[in-house]
Amino acid sequence: DWTMDAYKDIAIEKIREQVGDKKVICGLSGGVDSSVTAALLHEAIGDQLTCVFVDHGLLRKDEGADVIAMFRDNMNLQVIHADEADLFLGELEGQSDPETKRKIIGKLFIDVFQKYANEIEGAEFLAQGTLYPDVIESVSFSGGPSVTIKSHHNVGGLPEKMGLKLVEPLRELFKDEVRVLGHELGLPASFIGRHPFPGPGLAIRCPGEITREKLDILREADAVYIDQIRKHGLYDDIWQAFVAILPVRTVGVMGDGRTYDFACALRAVTSVDGMTADYYPFSHEFLGETATRIINEVAGINRVTYDITSKPPGTIEWE
Ligand code: XMP
Repeated sequence: DWTMDAYKDIAIEKIREQVGDKKVICGLSGGVDSSVTAALLHEAIGDQLTCVFVDHGLLRKDEGADVIAMFRDNMNLQVIHADEADLFLGELEGQSDPETKRKIIGKLFIDVFQKYANEIEGAEFLAQGTLYPDVIESVSFSGGPSVTIKSHHNVGGLPEKMGLKLVEPLRELFKDEVRVLGHELGLPASFIGRHPFPGPGLAIRCPGEITREKLDILREADAVYIDQIRKHGLYDDIWQAFVAILPVRTVGVMGDGRTYDFACALRAVTSVDGMTADYYPFSHEFLGETATRIINEVAGINRVTYDITSKPPGTIEWE
């Protein structure tokens, strides 16, 4: 795409002008926006960029390792892997209220990000993947001059608090343009086309109390479900798809025995912006095959349901 190729060169020039020889910190979530931001900055200023990847223990199967492999090993970015699963899961223990869970995660995220960022000596800038729609939204909702760091990262107000200046190279772009730019920067298509993933991660796909056992089961079930969706060529037709593990055990039979394991719900929706959504009309064949695979392949689940609620009145996530 020649237009985006030209845009990329201009964006790189602008970043070099703004940053000079100073250091930049970037919060890397593995999502499209922060990934493209990091890749663009790396192309512009190389090792003046350090990324912080906060791993809260609420990521999907292999997600942490995949992000590190791609950015650190393949693309040679400096990435700090903040492996803080024990901290997050410890603080979340016994908590079942959705908003309380979100608040705990949001607060810890800021603390952790700040702790690791403080170790990067002499950093003067914070890069974030603010898009044009984020800018519009923030102005129309708050009347403020610009957005703080994206809600996805749950670290609002951090740049001011840390005395960092902002670098926002995607401010003029829409999501589809960010994807084209990501392609120009050499990010693989599988990464650029990924479904959105919420900041609180699997915490809001594990309604009620979070345990390591439930998270492990959820990760396995989700991996099978996404594999099914990819194998049937449906991934790109769907806005978001995931499994939620339900806070209930149900009785089943398997072989000669009785089972008493968790039930799960499959979710898949189409949407333009996440504000409204329709449930995805899978074939019964697909659903049946997927349920069989999950029950056979995932220890701890013996019942699979499909969520056919649209938004509104439902939300996309379960919490
Ligand atoms: P809901 O569940 O509100 O989700 O219909 C709409 C979109 O927002 C995502 N989502 C979140 N993203 N922090 C985030 O960064 C959150 O707390 C959060 N809650 C929901 C959700 O995945 C969907 O794309």
